[in-house]
Amino acid sequence: MSASLTARIEQHAAAFDVGRVRADFPILKLRVNGKPLVFLDNAASSQMPQPVIDRWVRYQTSQHANIHRAVHYLSETATAEYEAARRKVQAFINAREEREVLFTSGTTEGINLVMHGYGRKFIGAGDEIILTTLEHHSNIVPWQMLAEEKGARLRVVPVNDRGELLLDEYRKLFTSHTRFVAVTHVSNALGTITPVREMIAVAHEHGVPILVDGAQAAPHLEVDVQELDCDFYAFSGHKMCGPTGIGILYGKAAWLEQMQPFKGGGDMILSVTFEKTTYNVIPHKFEAGTPPIAAAITLGAAVDYLQSVGMERIAAHETDLLDYATDQVNRLPGVRIIGTAEQKAAVLSFAVDGVHPHDVGTVLNDDGVAIRTGHHCAQPVMQRFKVAATSRASFAFYNTMEEVDALVAAIRRVQKVFT
Ligand code: ALA
Repeated sequence: MSASLTARIEQHAAAFDVGRVRADFPILKLRVNGKPLVFLDNAASSQMPQPVIDRWVRYQTSQHANIHRAVHYLSETATAEYEAARRKVQAFINAREEREVLFTSGTTEGINLVMHGYGRKFIGAGDEIILTTLEHHSNIVPWQMLAEEKGARLRVVPVNDRGELLLDEYRKLFTSHTRFVAVTHVSNALGTITPVREMIAVAHEHGVPILVDGAQAAPHLEVDVQELDCDFYAFSGHKMCGPTGIGILYGKAAWLEQMQPFKGGGDMILSVTFEKTTYNVIPHKFEAGTPPIAAAITLGAAVDYLQSVGMERIAAHETDLLDYATDQVNRLPGVRIIGTAEQKAAVLSFAVDGVHPHDVGTVLNDDGVAIRTGHHCAQPVMQRFKVAATSRASFAFYNTMEEVDALVAAIRRVQKVFT
């Protein structure tokens, strides 16, 4: 390891007490196959700290009722807490207005909401939608469904061998038919941080709105949607220490107001007759039915927790973990890192020569090390790098350098077992 990396890690370790943070996460005390759990599958879903678990329990034990529907004490309490959680998320991403923050079931639903609400209204035959090679299936398939329905066409931004988007190629894809851009902020398969700021600016030069898939970015980087100036930003609660079943779609009010609702039902209407329904104002127009109230309130607590740790410190510690792991894995003969972008978030995808990723994952699991193996719901990325699957370690702020050492030792054992 270089002297400068060692110095940086030591300096950050003095300012960030990872042991103290870990004490908040009961699940990290588990032993798996007789070994301490080393949880390195955070890109798939992160773990929940005790204060966030406690918030769920407090809601269920003393605050639960349906919201926006009754004048009794519990309904008013739950409504106030649910709307307070919306304001916490608004502050977390610096949205201009709270009505620009929609609760969804997750990133996938957020993207589908934009596809239905915006795409089906404003995109037609012969129109073009720009995506990138790095997209997760959830930011490909909805647009493909729309393109098939409308006779529109997908254009795809290529990447170089490091897994970086080619901005010049992106610029060239714009034509008079371009109607929408959808791009990930961080690649879940490679960890590449994409140049979303520039991409948003280019899209706007052409008068085209742009959606950013922030599922892998919001838990790791400071996100400021006003500064980015994106039109839509989608992310999930369960990747940022919150529960499953809850996510956020940020949308500029001017777009949300023009968009069709995605789901019809209670709470999204002002009046209903058999002749005509008038829709509610945003955000309620997009939150039909009883929403995931407990999950939304608990997500608010997750936001509080992340902010108490500090997004800057989270990003710094995760960068150290990634740089240390990259350094160590690069020293292993017969192991190749896939995705070597200059700007990366805490994802390390790799291939072990002659060993199928599922076998890598199985041997690592014997050592208590949890990683994800497979195509990571990003098959076009696998096709670009000519692999069927990768092994992927993904870090969170509660991981340690010792856990990186455990990962590296387990990869060595894989090589022994299979050679
Ligand atoms: N999209 C999640 C991942 O990358 C599930 O693992």
